[in-house]
Amino acid sequence: MTCSVLVGGAWGDEGKGKCITYLCNHDKPDIIARAGVGPNAGHSVEINGEKYGLRLTPSGFVHTDAKLLIGAGVLVDKEVLFKEFENLKKYNVSERTFIDPRSAIITDQHRQRDKSSEHLYKKIGSTGSGCGPANSDRVLRTVKLAKDIPDLEDYLLDVAFATNEAIDNGEDVFIEGSQGFALSLYYGTYPYVTSKDTTASSFAADVGIGPTKIDEVINVFKAYITRVGEGPFPTEITQKEAESMNLEEYGVVTGRRRRIGLFDMDLAKKSCMINGATQIALTCIDKLYPDCARTQNYNDLSPETKQFIENIQTSTGIPVTIISTGPDLKDTIDLRKELL
Ligand code: GTP
Ligand code: IMP
Ligand code: MG
Repeated sequence: MTCSVLVGGAWGDEGKGKCITYLCNHDKPDIIARAGVGPNAGHSVEINGEKYGLRLTPSGFVHTDAKLLIGAGVLVDKEVLFKEFENLKKYNVSERTFIDPRSAIITDQHRQRDKSSEHLYKKIGSTGSGCGPANSDRVLRTVKLAKDIPDLEDYLLDVAFATNEAIDNGEDVFIEGSQGFALSLYYGTYPYVTSKDTTASSFAADVGIGPTKIDEVINVFKAYITRVGEGPFPTEITQKEAESMNLEEYGVVTGRRRRIGLFDMDLAKKSCMINGATQIALTCIDKLYPDCARTQNYNDLSPETKQFIENIQTSTGIPVTIISTGPDLKDTIDLRKELL
């Protein structure tokens, strides 16, 4: 029986989608529960040459025996959700996805308020998905909950009860966080942050699981850092430098060009501490060290790459258990047996 929480180590887009897909496909948890803010997230999942961009559906959907749950803390946009049900038809997602009746609902009005806000959209660089206004209405206690929406009636389930019951029955539960540590409303680069805390404790609370029941916290970092939207970014490099390193990325939700920076060890240490990380997953190592592309054995990595990984491990004191060397699930070095 294991209850794991996966979190983003920096400003989101660390490659959580790939890590979650790999881990859920490999470990086959009984329940995969989505935590985090809401459909401002964009996770990329690539499987058998097919690419999916997800905003609400748990990225672990590829494990078709799992129940897919959305926790009470998460904001639900039913248009986004139903579109994903349609796109993921062949994985039977609509038949096994359930939403906590206490999840709050994003409406058209929230999206409009987000996009027309000088402060949120222009200054902070929000995703325009309505999450900030919906969370603000939630705090003001004027928002609608999933249980108030007739279209969602067939999908309601007490997620807190279901996940706790599963843990008590010795089943495996995997909690997917979204966004990243540096976007936390409490610990991030305020005011250039999202509308909620984005650390492991909050993700557990989003789903209704208490801290004593969490066994593993997997903190995901990319081998370099990206940030969309405005705000401080200490290790940022220029677009020209990024291009010379062949690093160029665009956001899944907004299509905006991502700012690029080098790995930030100070941020990594803080992020591991406040998340209570027990493992680190490192993605896109092949983009920094192209000679490592698609490597599946640690020993086959170049000495320079190994040094980079060992530095992270030594500085944070947390084992780097998962190393991603390409977009496909096969392009993964899994050191959990050796290191844990
Ligand atoms: P999260 O928001 O953290 O879930 O990250 P993401 O899934 O949004 O990451 P992003 O949208 O930046 O997607 C990254 C792209 O890189 C996707 O097409 C992934 O399939 C791919 N990818 C993930 N891991 C690796 C890797 O280790 N190497 C390479 N070359 N590509 C990767
Ligand atoms: P909001 O969450 O849409 O209000 O956006 C606030 C800030 O968080 C903006 O800088 C967004 O770009 C950023 N943000 C929110 N969610 C994500 C995410 O999943 N990945 C990357 N950045 C995000
Ligand atoms: Mg993303």
